Amino acid sequence: MGNHLILANWKSNKSVIEALGWLKMLNISETNLENKEVIVCPSFTALQEVSKFVAENSLPVKIGTQDVSPFKEGSYTGEINAIQIKEFAKYVLIGHSERRENFHEDDNVLANKVSIAVSSGVIPIYCVSDVGMKIPSEVKIVAYEPLSAIGTGNSDTPEDANSVAKAIKDANANITSVLYGGSVTPENVANFTKMENIDGVLVGKASLDASDFSKIVQNA
Ligand code: 13P
Repeated sequence: MGNHLILANWKSNKSVIEALGWLKMLNISETNLENKEVIVCPSFTALQEVSKFVAENSLPVKIGTQDVSPFKEGSYTGEINAIQIKEFAKYVLIGHSERRENFHEDDNVLANKVSIAVSSGVIPIYCVSDVGMKIPSEVKIVAYEPLSAIGTGNSDTPEDANSVAKAIKDANANITSVLYGGSVTPENVANFTKMENIDGVLVGKASLDASDFSKIVQNA
C-alpha cells in the first residue's frame, strides 16, 4: 500500500482570490505528512493560479481537476482536454456522482475520459457510489462515495466502507487504492483512514474551510 491520499474537492466553489486565500491559510507542514499526499482539486478557473502559488511557495500539495473532456484536443467548444490539464495537474476526478446525475455521464463517456487521461499522463481517480459499478481496467485509484453520505452529514460506517473497499479491490486486480468520500470531517476522518482497506479520503464540504481541511490532514 502506498501513501494515503487526502483530497479536497472544492466542487463548483471559490473565486481565484478565495482559492489563494485558502492556500495561504492551509496549515500543514512536510513533517506532518509522513505517508500522506495532499491533493487540491479547484475549479478550472483557479487552476493556473493555484498551481503557480503551490510551486512558488513550495507547498506540499499536488493538484487535481474535477473533470476532463472525453475528447482529445480539437473542435469541442467549451471542453478542457487532458493535455491542457497535464500542464497543471497530476490527478483528475472522473465519474463523480454529481456529474453522472446532473450531466448524464455514462460508462462509455467515463471510459473515454479514463483512457484519454491515462494516455496523457494524468492519473484518474474514479468515483463509484456502490460496489457493483463498472470500473475501466486502466483505473488504479477508486473513490467510494455512497450517495446517502454525500453532503448529508451522514457518513457511512467505517466498517461498511472498509468492506466495500475490500470488495472493490478483490474484484479488480489493477486497483491499488480505494478512498472513502461522504461527509468526512476532522472528527471522523481517522475512523476511516485507520481501516485496512481504505487508502485515503475525498472531502467535499469540509474541504472548503482551510482550517477544517488542515485538521483533516493532521488527523488522517
Ligand atoms: P461531502 O464531503 O460534502 O459529503 O462531499 C463528498 C464528495 O462528494 C467529495 O467528492
